Amino acid sequence: MIPPTLLTAMRAARHIVVFTGAGVSAESGIPTFRDTLTGLWERFDAASLATPQAFLQDPELVWGWYEWRRMKAVQAQPNPAHLAIAALARHVPKLTVVTQNVDDLHERAGSAGVIHLHGSLHKPHCFDCGRQPAKALGMPLEPEGGRRLEPPRCKHCDGRLRPGVVWFGESLPSDAMHAAFAAAQNCDVLLSIGTSGVVYPAAEVPILAWESGAVVVHINPHAVAHGEEREYTLAGAAGEQVPALVQQAFAD
Ligand code: OAD
Repeated sequence: MIPPTLLTAMRAARHIVVFTGAGVSAESGIPTFRDTLTGLWERFDAASLATPQAFLQDPELVWGWYEWRRMKAVQAQPNPAHLAIAALARHVPKLTVVTQNVDDLHERAGSAGVIHLHGSLHKPHCFDCGRQPAKALGMPLEPEGGRRLEPPRCKHCDGRLRPGVVWFGESLPSDAMHAAFAAAQNCDVLLSIGTSGVVYPAAEVPILAWESGAVVVHINPHAVAHGEEREYTLAGAAGEQVPALVQQAFAD
């Protein structure tokens, strides 16, 4: 049952921030990172796949692994949580979607202006000169999780293209980070959906919102709330909890 005080806060909000992590795409078939057995970082070694050093050492391994992830993202469809978030925009004066995810399921569900804190699987750039190719990547091949693929070459400098995601040890794109922090500091309600909240600085987004006086709602099958005032937990899958929240808050 959704607390009536939360429904009231949703209805009164002028600006809602939706902050998502891998859990929002889990029901679309995209694996999370840290869930036991199914999480990517439970099955693959992050240090040999998600760092600049790993790419320099074995570009084919890294590119092949990210092409496998891009294939999973391309094949996935937005789930009821992505769709409910897009629908929420029609009910509040301002909605900002901030995601840590590198898929494009929010956009494909209809959300506009999504802030991608950790980049995108669909926007590679040159490892050497940083430029993005003019042409989008073609359909991904179907490599297995461990198959090597030669990264395409940059048209400008002949360097290797690298996945357009933020790797461990790299900074977040500063425009996205500033926009996310500003939104968090200026919202009335923040919905934190499907994130373990252990990767910084992204994890500061809900903290900043709470410190700035917003109501913070955690939507996750595993409890993550700290029992603070103005903090709620809706325990359960995003695909059930988010549509229920939006529907109950804004049903005519
Ligand atoms: P995690 O894998 O760390 O956490 C996923 C969260 O989703 C967990 O808290 C799960 O309990 C929850 N979850 C699982 N299924 C869910 C469902 N159906 N509905 C709602 N919640 C569900 O993923 P993130 O928090 O996104 O960074 O990880 C943060 C960052 O760590 C990622 O962006 C990535 C990774 O390394 C980069 O790629 C830079």
